[in-house]
Amino acid sequence: MSTRGAWSSKFGFILAGAGSAIGLGAIWRFPYITGANGGAVFVLVFLVCCLVIGLPVMIAEFSLGRHTEKNAFGMFRALHGGRLWKWVGGLCIVSGFVIFSWYSVIAGWIIGYLYAAIIGTFDFFQGSTAVGAFFSAFAGDALLVSLLHFAIIFGTAFVVIRGIKDGIETLSKWLMPVLFVLLILLAVRSVTLPGAGAGLEFYLKPDWSKFSGKMVLAAMGQAFFSLSLGMGTMATYASYLSKRENIATSAAWITFFEVLISLIAGFVILPAVSAMGASYTEGPSLIFVVLPGIFGAMPGGYFFGVGFFILVIIAALTSTVSMLEVPVAYFVDEKRWTRRNAVLFVALVSFLIGTPAAQAHGASEFWTHLPGLGTDFFTFISTLFGDISLSVGAFFIALVTGWVWGARNAVGEITAEGNTFGLAGTWSFLIRWVAPVTIAIIFVNVIRALIVG
Ligand code: PHE
Repeated sequence: MSTRGAWSSKFGFILAGAGSAIGLGAIWRFPYITGANGGAVFVLVFLVCCLVIGLPVMIAEFSLGRHTEKNAFGMFRALHGGRLWKWVGGLCIVSGFVIFSWYSVIAGWIIGYLYAAIIGTFDFFQGSTAVGAFFSAFAGDALLVSLLHFAIIFGTAFVVIRGIKDGIETLSKWLMPVLFVLLILLAVRSVTLPGAGAGLEFYLKPDWSKFSGKMVLAAMGQAFFSLSLGMGTMATYASYLSKRENIATSAAWITFFEVLISLIAGFVILPAVSAMGASYTEGPSLIFVVLPGIFGAMPGGYFFGVGFFILVIIAALTSTVSMLEVPVAYFVDEKRWTRRNAVLFVALVSFLIGTPAAQAHGASEFWTHLPGLGTDFFTFISTLFGDISLSVGAFFIALVTGWVWGARNAVGEITAEGNTFGLAGTWSFLIRWVAPVTIAIIFVNVIRALIVG
C-alpha cells in the first residue's frame, strides 16, 4: 500500500469518488438521454438501476480495489488467472481510453460556451432557434472543436502530472456546493418559464408505452456511466484506500449525491425544452441549445451563465482525471512505465481516438453521417464505450466479486477493522444474483430485438 500513495483522509476519498461521479454524466448526459428515452419511465428505471445494481457494484468495486491494491487489469488477475479475466481487465483499460477520448469533446464544448458567455454572445438570443444556429456553427467548426478537445485532454494530463489533482479536488469541495445551489436556482427559473408545464409532465408523469428493452439498457448504462462504474475507476481509487474506511457508507453517499444532481439537472433542462420549443430528442446538444435561453430569462443571467460553465468545467475535470487514472495505473503497475510517460501516452492516444468524435457534429460529413451505421460517430462510440462496455464490465465485476472471490470474502474486506455492514446479506444477494442476472436479461432482450428487428 505505502508505495502506491494513499488518500489523506476519509473525506479525501469520498471527495475523489464523488468528484469522479459528478460531472457531465449528471449535468449533460442524464437530461438528453432522459429526453431521448421518453421521460418519466426512463427516470424511474434509472433510479431502480442505481439502487439495486449501481450501488452494489460500487461497493464491489471498492472492496475489490482495496483488497487487491491493484489497477483495473491486475485486480482480476489477482483473483483468477484465467484468460477470460484478462479480457475483462483489458476491456476496462480500453474503456478508460475511449471514454476519456469522447467525454473530453463535450467538456471542450463547455469551454467554448464559457467563452461565448463571457463575451456576451448569448445576451441577445431568444428562443432555441437562435441558440441552435449558434450551436451548429460552433460544433461544425473543425479546428475550434479540436483545439478545445485538445485543451481538455492535455489539461487533464497536466493536472495529473503536476500532482495538482488533490488541489483540484479540495477546490471542488468548496465549489460543488456552489454548483448545487446554482442548479437549484436554474431549476426554479426553468420550471416557472411560460410553457414549462409540458416538459415537467414529460419528466414526471410516466407514459408506459415508452417502456422498451432498449430504454432499460439506456437507463442501466446511464446508471453505470454516471456512477463511474464498470471499468474499474472506483476500484482503482479504492486501491489507494486504507482499511479503516467504511466502504459501504462511502458508496451510499456518492450514489446519493450523484442521483440528486442528476434529478435536479433534469428539472433544469426538460421544462426549458418545452418552454423554448426545443426537441426532447435533440441528443448530445440538448443542454447547449437550452441553457443559454434559461440564463437569458434570469435576472443576473450573465453571471449565472459564466459561473455555471466554470463550475461544470471543474466538475468535468475531476471526472476526466479519474478516467485517465485507469489506464495510467495499468501502465505504471503492470508495465513499469513512469507515471509521466503513461499519462502522456494515454492523453495522446485518447486525443487521436476522440478526434473523429469531435468532428461528428457537423464538422465532417463522413463522421456526422457514418455510412452504413445510420448514426454519427460520436453516438456510436459513446454508446459502445459507455452504455455497453460499462454494463459488460459491471457484469463481470459482479461475477468476480460474488462468485470467484466470493461475497463472503468481500464482506470480510468491507468489515475489516471493525467496520459494520448491516446490509451484508442483502448486498451479497444483489451482487451474486440480482446484478448479473438483470444485466444478462437486458442484454439478451436487446440482442433479440435487434435480430428480430
Ligand atoms: N461519472 C462520470 C460523470 O458522470 C463519468 C465517468 C464514467 C467517470 C466512467 C469515470 C468512469 O461525469
